[in-house]
Amino acid sequence: MTILALETSCDESAAAILRGDTHPPTLLASLISSQIDLHRAYGGVVPEIASRNHALRLHPLVEQTLAAADLRIDQIDAFAATRGPGLASSLLVGHSMAKALALASGKPFLSVNHMEGHLLSPFLDSNSPPPPHLALIVSGGHTLLIHVRGIGNYAVVGRSIDDAAGEAFDKVARLLGLPYPGGPEIERLAPHGDPSAFPFPRSTPGNFDFSFSGLKTAVLYTLQKLDDPTRHTADLAASFQAAVFDVLCSRTLAAARETGVNLVSLSGGVSCNKALRSALQSACADAALDFRPCTPALSTDNAAMIVFAAWLHLRQGHRSLLTEDIDPNLLLVPAT
Ligand code: KG4
Ligand code: ZN
Repeated sequence: MTILALETSCDESAAAILRGDTHPPTLLASLISSQIDLHRAYGGVVPEIASRNHALRLHPLVEQTLAAADLRIDQIDAFAATRGPGLASSLLVGHSMAKALALASGKPFLSVNHMEGHLLSPFLDSNSPPPPHLALIVSGGHTLLIHVRGIGNYAVVGRSIDDAAGEAFDKVARLLGLPYPGGPEIERLAPHGDPSAFPFPRSTPGNFDFSFSGLKTAVLYTLQKLDDPTRHTADLAASFQAAVFDVLCSRTLAAARETGVNLVSLSGGVSCNKALRSALQSACADAALDFRPCTPALSTDNAAMIVFAAWLHLRQGHRSLLTEDIDPNLLLVPAT
């Protein structure tokens, strides 16, 4: 089965083609047309600029992806696209285009949850389907701890009750006068600073939930008290990053103990961060847990993770109707 998927949930236009009948499938092509430069001037994503650029870029991107895979469009067996969560006007562009391709060709269509794409991405090159485990997903919009029992069988163990981890990185970077997106900027500065220079709070709300907005406020108050904040940027970045990663690691390990899993996976944009990867890697090793991070290339938004999630579902016989609508607030686990 050969599948083409489109991802347009935020500011990256992405297309990917995956082929295979057994694990692991082969990723034939995965292309991303990033709009980060267009949005940087505004310090964040501007929805209308994003959707207009998806509309402009998607058609050539699909042609380039087919060329990179050395395939014609009639050799695609199914089409998939991100349904949500994300920006409504951006989601509509990729979702509508994939539905149009399925309609014109009479091939199946599958609507994919973006967070499930992140969740499954560490297993794209695995020889077997994702086993039961605990997944930590840290992206710009979500921080989630998920007990994965099987494909599509997920239980939320913990979530951010205010800012997501990536959102906290972006907001704190802005306070520090760093460009958007803030995560990579803070990672670049942190090794030049002292992580214990500022003892920022490690907030641990109930259950296994996360809260990062108090930490952001603590950075703001600290900045306001400093005579010359620019002299402390690296220390602030290092101390902030250490506080976020301490909480992510300790909560993940506690949740792994509680759920009784022996494997922890890591995905989402913040999982690009080498300090987080190595902190969670060694915390898992100390607790005799296996650790499976997604490769840095698949951490931030891409269509490879969407096409892989589609492949896993299509193999189970799942199909979406062409009347399926996007859902900007789509949940990974429907509220009961
Ligand atoms: O998963 P993603 O690409 O998009 C969403 O689905 O939200 O995540 C983007 C987030 C941004 O907040 C960005 O600042 C953060 O991931 N990020 C990082 C790093 N690279 C990207 N955060 C910390 N360290 C990084 N190296
Ligand atoms: Zn994402």
